[in-house]
Parts: sequence; structure tokens; C-alpha cells
Amino acid sequence: MKRISVTTTPFEGQKPGTSGLRKQVQVFQQPHYLENFVQSLFDSLEGFAGQTLVVGGDGRYHNRSAVQTILRMAAANGFGRVLVGRGGILSTPAASLVIRKYGAFGGIVLSASHNPGGPEGDFGIKYNIGNGGPAPERVTEAIYARSQAIDRYFTLAGADLPLDQLASHQLGETEVVVIDPVADYAELMESLFDFPAIRALLTSGAFRMRFDAMHAVTGPYAKEILEGRLQAPAGTVMNAIPLEDFGGGHPDPNLTYAEALVAEMFGPDAPDFGAASDGDGDRNMVLGRHFFVTPSDSLAVMAANADLVPGYRGRLKGIARSMPTSGAADKVAEVLGLPSFETPTGWKFFGNLLDAGMATLCGEESFGTSSDHVREKDGLWAVLYWLNVLAARGESVATILEGHWRRFGRHYYTRHDYEALPAEPAKGVMEQVSGTFASLPGTTLAGRRVTLADDFAYTDPVDGSTSTHQGLRVLFEDGSRIVYRLSGTGTVGATLRIYIERYEADPTLQGLDPQEALADLIAAARALCQLEQRTGQVEPTVIT
Ligand code: G1P
Ligand code: ZN
Repeated sequence: MKRISVTTTPFEGQKPGTSGLRKQVQVFQQPHYLENFVQSLFDSLEGFAGQTLVVGGDGRYHNRSAVQTILRMAAANGFGRVLVGRGGILSTPAASLVIRKYGAFGGIVLSASHNPGGPEGDFGIKYNIGNGGPAPERVTEAIYARSQAIDRYFTLAGADLPLDQLASHQLGETEVVVIDPVADYAELMESLFDFPAIRALLTSGAFRMRFDAMHAVTGPYAKEILEGRLQAPAGTVMNAIPLEDFGGGHPDPNLTYAEALVAEMFGPDAPDFGAASDGDGDRNMVLGRHFFVTPSDSLAVMAANADLVPGYRGRLKGIARSMPTSGAADKVAEVLGLPSFETPTGWKFFGNLLDAGMATLCGEESFGTSSDHVREKDGLWAVLYWLNVLAARGESVATILEGHWRRFGRHYYTRHDYEALPAEPAKGVMEQVSGTFASLPGTTLAGRRVTLADDFAYTDPVDGSTSTHQGLRVLFEDGSRIVYRLSGTGTVGATLRIYIERYEADPTLQGLDPQEALADLIAAARALCQLEQRTGQVEPTVIT
């Protein structure tokens, strides 16, 4: 098969955001658009000739054709071997695992995560490096720079490869191996968690759970692990069949979008445990009967209970959280005598800490938790971790949380999203906030003294690299915080995120609804950024 060089010209805006390049499907369907980005990626890498590349995605609309394009280009660019998930499928954590397990040079993950799919929805592409984690900024910046100057890409002529059967194919000089997307992952999960104890819990008849795969990639993984290896009753996994448009839903596991699951968990005769994962399987939401566990609390509970989980017993080195994530995990780290780390938003910032053995558990408030078993966040892993803790403690989710708060204090927490704002007012909101920073410290807001107001910057303790403009923080004397950020993953207009947090040590005051407990800080946060004057909005579109 002959290598073809195709002449092309740059596209504007091929700049990876918080998590890869995400655009509407129509943008990706433009001739040469995907090819330009993939060639820019390959042109930015060195030393991959003859090496292995992993390719897979969350199965959303455009996944199949994009995989074929990438296989041809990988072969034309000189990769020795490509491992591709059957049907072009690999969840994000499974891709991370496969890269690590088979010593791949890197991997390409096709997903727009929790964004809706289908011809009118979103598509995305992300590069992961040899440690299995998202490419660091120096790589994504190089890709973007190259995309601005690209004038040719390499591909091969030829028919599409059949990807629905496990097999090995020859594509030019390159071997393409179609792998089982679930097997390696399921095996790893079994090595980390107490499967016999979880199986006993799930088959006892006294405990019921529901897992909502949201018609996204975790369906086959959850079926195999929960209903297969762990023998949970058939039907435990709902919306288990992955669909190209996620059944028209928004595959984001939160209280707004996982509607059916939430209705069941807060309804009469609710199951004991409910969980959901997102489009590409890296997010998780955890619910008890009539009980929502914030992702920040989830990370803290996992850390506090690590000794109940075989894969983590006695081996926590440190706990890392993204800056907007609540301080709940820090409290646990403090009590356990472990180091804690505060990184910018986005999983890529955890990679160095995990590689260096400085952190074992990591989490973000955005329904992401994981550990050093891969270099991505991992939805089903978090669900299995929780099941392990529930099986070991024999208590309800609510009882575990209440006990946790009594011991460590409660961090009341909420995130308010204002989606699809026009870009200018959204920028204005951020400028308004940073404009107050010089005079804010020492003044009083919502009855609390401001101790620090800054634009968060992070210096990586491993490689010394610095990332600036990572969110505006207002910190108060009593430990409360308000954080403002603009989303780096949206594809329509701008999304403003306001994160609000307050610490409550007194157990008699820990039972409030977070929106009530934070009401004064929420009002202060809106006033400080002149939300209504600048955007015409008051109430957020999504509250988590
Ligand atoms: C969002 C989340 C962030 C997460 C990312 C990818 O990014 O806030 O924590 O890492 O999605 O799942 P954002 O849209 O806020 O830039
Ligand atoms: Zn995701």
C-alpha cells in the first residue's frame, strides 16, 4: 500500500482545551479537519517509528469513520503496531490501561466525554502519552502550533478494516490488532477490589444497586463486571446499550442529566446504591438511598476507607485534588498524616504526581476520581471502590457520610454553571472579579473576612512547569471559598462555573441542604461578579 501525501491548509482553532480538541461533529466532518489535527499530533512527536499506538473511542457518532482515518494515518506515519478496541471502542480509563499494559508509545482517544453526541452533537480527540495520561501542555501546545502551519498529511489508500471481530490485520507495513476493549480492564478491577465480598453483597438479596450507563461506553464494561463477574441481578445495569447519540441524552452523570437514575434513587422503595458514568467512562456519580454524595466528599471517603480496599490498604502516598474541588480530602490527608496536593482543573495535572509516587488517589469536583492504577479518571473503578467499602462496612451510604462528617467536619459545597453565555459578558464577569482583587483582601463579604484573592497558578512539584490563569479564587478567614472559572471543554459560547464552599465542624449543623447552607456565599458570589448586570442571568443552568 502506497503512502500518499495530501496537500492541506491550516484550520483555525485546533487548540486542545481542558481535555483534548472538542468541536461539533460538523466541524470534524469538514474534509481534512481531523487529518490536519492527527498529522499535527504526529509531527509533534518524536521516536515513534515502529512503536505501538492505541486507538479507541466512546462509540459516539463519527467514531467509526474517525478510527479508520487514524489507522491509515498511523500506518502512513510509520507506527509499527496499532491496538484498536473492537468496534473502535475503548473507554477512556481502558485506553489508559491498554497504553500502560502493552508499553505503547501513546494513544488516541476519540470522545467528547459527557457532551451530547449524534450528528448535531459533539466529537473530540485527545492524545495520551506513554504513561497512559493526557498529554501535558507542552505537547498540546506543540500540536496547536503545528496545526497553524501544516501543509500536508500522510495517509494510505485502501478499504476500511473490519473492526468488529478480534483479529490482526496488515495495513501497509503496520500491524493492526483488534483487541477486546473490556477484558484487560475487568482483570485489573478484579485485582484491586475484594470481588468475593462485593459478590456476596450483590447476591445477598438484602442490597440492591442500579448502575446507569447512560447509553454510553461503560455499558459493556458494567455488564461484564457487575452482572457477569460480580453476579449482580440482570437489569442492575440500566441504559446498557451504547448508542451513537446516547439515546438523545446528555451523558453526564449528575443530578440534572442522570434523570431516570436520580428519580429512582430519590423515589419510593429506592435501591441502596446508585451510580452512573459518562460518555467515555471516566466520570462517576455515586448515590445512596435518597442521598447524593458530592464528588469532593466521595474522594475524601475513599481516602479515609482505603484500608478496607485490598488494592490500597496501607499504600496511600498522598491525595491530590483539583483547585475547585472542596477541601474534604485535605482534611483526611491531614488526619492520616499524608501529603495533599492542589492542582489546576483537568486530569493532566495529576500525571506527574502519580508517576512520581507522590499521590495515590486523585479527584475533581466534576465527578472524577481515580488512582495510580491508570492515568485517567475512572468511573467504574470509583463505583467498585464504593461497593468494596459498602461491603466491608455493612453500612448505608448515608451512615458512612454522616460518620465521615462527624469525624472530619463537613465541607458544604456546590457548583453553579451558567452554560452557553455569549463570550463577551462571560469574559466581563471574570474581569469584574479580578478587578476587585487589589482591594478585596481585608474586606468583608457575606459576613466573612477575605484573606486572599488571586488568579490561581500552579507550579508542578515534579517538573517545575508553571500553569497560570487557572481560576479566580476568593478565600475567607473561616476556610470558605468562592472560585470562578470559564469552562475549557464547552463548544457553544462560554460556560461560567462558580464554585462555593464552606466548612462546618459542628456535627449538629451538618444536616442542612447545601444550597441553604451556602445561601449567603452564593448571593455574595453573584454580586461580586455583577452576574445579573453583565449576563442577564441569575439562576444557573446546572447545579451540582
Ligand atoms: C470539565 C471539568 C474538569 C474536567 C474536564 C474533563 O472541564 O470541570 O474538572 O477535568 O471537564 O472531564 P471544564 O469544562 O470546567 O474546563
Ligand atoms: Zn468523560
